Amino acid sequence: MKLVHTVSELQTQLDQARASKRIVFVPTMGALHEGHLELVTQAVKVENAFVVMSIFVNPAQFGKGEDFDRYPRTLDADIARLEELPHAPDLLFVPSVEEIYGTEETEISPRAGAVGVVFEGAARPGHFDGMLHIVSWFFRTIEPEVAVFGAKDAQQVYLIKRMVHREFKDSIAIIEVETVRELDGLAKSSRNRFLGEAARAFAPVIYQTLLGVKEELQAGIKPSLALEQARGALEAQPLAKLDYLALVDKNTFQPIADDFTGFAQLLVAVTVSGVRLIDNITFSIQEPA
Ligand code: PAJ
Repeated sequence: MKLVHTVSELQTQLDQARASKRIVFVPTMGALHEGHLELVTQAVKVENAFVVMSIFVNPAQFGKGEDFDRYPRTLDADIARLEELPHAPDLLFVPSVEEIYGTEETEISPRAGAVGVVFEGAARPGHFDGMLHIVSWFFRTIEPEVAVFGAKDAQQVYLIKRMVHREFKDSIAIIEVETVRELDGLAKSSRNRFLGEAARAFAPVIYQTLLGVKEELQAGIKPSLALEQARGALEAQPLAKLDYLALVDKNTFQPIADDFTGFAQLLVAVTVSGVRLIDNITFSIQEPA
């Protein structure tokens, strides 16, 4: 695995690789855990792949008072974990903030629009604009054939797929990798390390809640009722502060009505002892027999 910090070093490496290989891109903010490593595992499976991973904590996607400064930066440990993989990425791109944003104010585009201000976007104003900005920058700079993202961040993948369609004429194939979980079901996240003992013990309830709602819906219970009950149960938990539990159409990211059939995505965000956790599952809702 070759480590580069500047765009010009990156381009030199890419120019060499592009002649004979397919560029497969895995963006991350580092503090790597098994979820990120699974993205690499899927990336290297692409035939003739030259896998480029980026590690960049992107200031534009953190709001005021968010955890940009506190976000874990563990480059040496990240490199060690990547080197231990059976197939490490071919190239690791770790730019500085100045390398990407320069010293002048940057115009943020493309914008996430209406889907960017609900759910995670409502809790984190500007987050999705900043996220799309950097991913678009990476896509234009790296020009990958394939890019790999985790299903864990459902709204992020939705917006990226939409951007690839609108701004990149579907020229980049997006691989969406299933959420990697702890044995007790908690979705792996860089933020899990901030959970205290009691919070960590409670956290698997989030995924269990998702599975419970799915079971109820598949047994024919109305979505509005199942959601109301599950929200009530989460709100009654002393360690948890529920932000949202919502059911959306996977294809449009719009909340669904009780008569919906098709692929639904159940989304949740809960703050557990000060640590904001998100999760989701996707499943199909059929017409009752
Ligand atoms: P980050 O939070 O580091 O996540 C990088 C990638 O890892 C994302 O595609 C995310 O969905 C995926 N991921 C995180 N946890 C996962 C898990 N438990 N299972 C599977 N995949 C998981 O998401 C970002 O960084 C940034 O917004 C980024 C896209 C890099 C733009 O800055």
